[in-house]
Amino acid sequence: MSTVLITGASGGIGYELAKLFARDHHNQVLAARNADKLAQLATELRTQGVTVKTVPLDLSTPLAPKFLFDQLQTEGVAVDILINNAGFGAFGEFAQMSHAEIFGQIQLNIIALTELTRLLLPPMLARHSGRIMNVASTAGFQPGPLMAVYYATKAYVISFSEALANEVRNSGVTVTCFCPGATHTGFAKRAGNDNSRLFKQLGAMNADKVALDGYRAVMEGRTLAISGAHNWLVAQSTRFAPRKMVTAISRWISEPTR
Ligand SMILES: NC(=O)c1ccc[n+]([C@@H]2O[C@H](COP(=O)([O-])OP(=O)(O)OC[C@H]3O[C@@H](n4cnc5c(N)ncnc54)[C@H](OP(=O)(O)O)[C@@H]3O)[C@@H](O)[C@H]2O)c1
Repeated sequence: MSTVLITGASGGIGYELAKLFARDHHNQVLAARNADKLAQLATELRTQGVTVKTVPLDLSTPLAPKFLFDQLQTEGVAVDILINNAGFGAFGEFAQMSHAEIFGQIQLNIIALTELTRLLLPPMLARHSGRIMNVASTAGFQPGPLMAVYYATKAYVISFSEALANEVRNSGVTVTCFCPGATHTGFAKRAGNDNSRLFKQLGAMNADKVALDGYRAVMEGRTLAISGAHNWLVAQSTRFAPRKMVTAISRWISEPTR
């Protein structure tokens, strides 16, 4: 039985991914801040006959990824599949945003993801086997006024993951970048953009459907996967439309409805 480490498993897409991995008999290491939610999920998953270890921690603190890695090393847990899913966005003009909101996003969405990859990729390469899935977003395909930092962090995740996938080709390890579009989870409420045109008018997908797309993508070892045909079309259109127009539309979509 292989072991999957899922960050951000206490809710939303990560929670649904954990259920899919349990269904297919993968042992689990689940990380997020909310210990109670993790414990509840662990109890549910163990009924499927898999072992589940929960690690409640705040991955936006600089030493957390190494702490998690060291704990797994000490307990002799080898991670076969790494799902870097934990992430958050903050809505508002950059100039009005707090230091914690700006650097919390960079720390969690970029640094924790990169650090966990740095720590867990070498053992996978040594075993000639492993899978990594980094959860980006369709936000990563264009600039995002009013969520400038969040969109930029996801652009990093796409670029980093595609480059890494190329570096490790033929190694037995695959790197997948998974891009959901708007999804019904706790994300929009935390970001403060649950009143945006994106979530109110354009429609969001359900987390179980999105997670299934992600699960298939990582198990097939796809390099880049976008959840939902409409999201795929929008992502493609940003490549051909004038950049200024794409940025203006991106802002319009993020603005609150009246
Ligand atoms: N929902 C969308 O519309 C959407 C669209 C595109 C991409 N995404 C991406 O999908 C991923 C999952 O988001 P989601 O929609 O499922 O959001 P969510 O429902 O808010 O779940 C986020 C998960 O990350 C965990 N998390 C947040 N901050 C953390 C921290 N500092 N340390 C450790 N864990 C932390 C949360 O658990 P705790 O609160 O317990 O820590 C939760 O389990 C994110 O990377 C997000 O950027 C979401």
